[in-house]
Amino acid sequence: MERLRPEPPALYLDAQGNIPQFESVRQARAELRVGGSAQAATDAGLYAEAVGGLVFGDSRDGQDPRRFLTHPAASGTHALTLGARLLAQLPPTRRVYLPTPSWSNHQRIFEEAGLTVGHYPYFDAYARQLDVDALVGFLCRLPGPAVIVLQASCHNPTGSDLTRDQWDVIADVVKALGHIPFIDMAYQGLGDTLQDDNYGVTAMADRGVFTLVAQSCSKIFQLSEARCGSLSAYCPSADQAQPIQRAMQSWTRMDTAPASLGVVARILSQPGLRKLWQSELDGMRDRVGQVRAALHKTLCRLSPAWDWSYLTHQRGFFSYDPALHPAEDAPQAPGLPDRRIVSASGRLGISLITERNLPDVAHAIAGASAP
Ligand SMILES: Cc1ncc(COP(=O)(O)O)c(C=O)c1O
Repeated sequence: MERLRPEPPALYLDAQGNIPQFESVRQARAELRVGGSAQAATDAGLYAEAVGGLVFGDSRDGQDPRRFLTHPAASGTHALTLGARLLAQLPPTRRVYLPTPSWSNHQRIFEEAGLTVGHYPYFDAYARQLDVDALVGFLCRLPGPAVIVLQASCHNPTGSDLTRDQWDVIADVVKALGHIPFIDMAYQGLGDTLQDDNYGVTAMADRGVFTLVAQSCSKIFQLSEARCGSLSAYCPSADQAQPIQRAMQSWTRMDTAPASLGVVARILSQPGLRKLWQSELDGMRDRVGQVRAALHKTLCRLSPAWDWSYLTHQRGFFSYDPALHPAEDAPQAPGLPDRRIVSASGRLGISLITERNLPDVAHAIAGASAP
């Protein structure tokens, strides 16, 4: 028998319980198969320009374009790995700090690049919300410059994000102390709009702070089978950008271009497809919000003494309630469609909940809240 319930995967199921394929992606694939413009659309330069536009938003306006670099990556995970590789070569620091808790692969990625990994406080398990005072206090007490890994939106696994004001405070502290922010952006547009979800990146760039961004298209284009992503760097001056650009050029010779690169480039650069994609992305975000509201309502009825308000405050594919105590070795609850929806550590796979399985999931969660 399984000893622990596995963690919920970062997958999204639609109302029917299927992994949806975006119509914008289907159309872009079909156009690329027939069009003579396929070559142009698969050009890595077009992809980097289009995805760089998502990542940096309007912080590029009126600025020297040589300071904003974007390199295609095979996935968000690959982008993090490339960024870690770059950091291992960069003075002045080899220390990286991750939030507690964080996406389970972060630690391994940075350690494998030869960096020393520490952890900063992020989530107050008792209040079930972000503890920004503890975070800022920790950054201020660090003995020297360090790399700080932050998630842009839909924090995995807590679902608790920084507000704009909190990003501003962190960006001021990071600038004053010379830290290097490394922003992981796997869910842009799924917390709020595309522009809102890159606020952290623009807050850093607007202050002239050297920043790395590992971006993933896997969720926001529903490309789980054929992922792609990008590594971006904002450099305060064109001179500082040069060694990074050289490193990125050397990767171009080593890496194979991700298969979905042409599809994403096409969607982002064709206004009609972009509009369709935007509405599909918005639809996904709205549905996750509706699932959160419905789960909240049902749990308030099933277990009224528990504070479930975090469900509607948190965002994205996950919620996190470490005070829940699902039995680790209990057999699967009758009717519970997928035991990964509720993990032993209290992580909830919100994006795996459908209208159909919600009653069973809610009973399993309510059971884990029983004294
Ligand atoms: C926070 C976070 N970063 C990065 C990734 C990796 O993205 P990709 O699936 O494109 O490798 C994920 C995927 O689940 C994630 O949740």
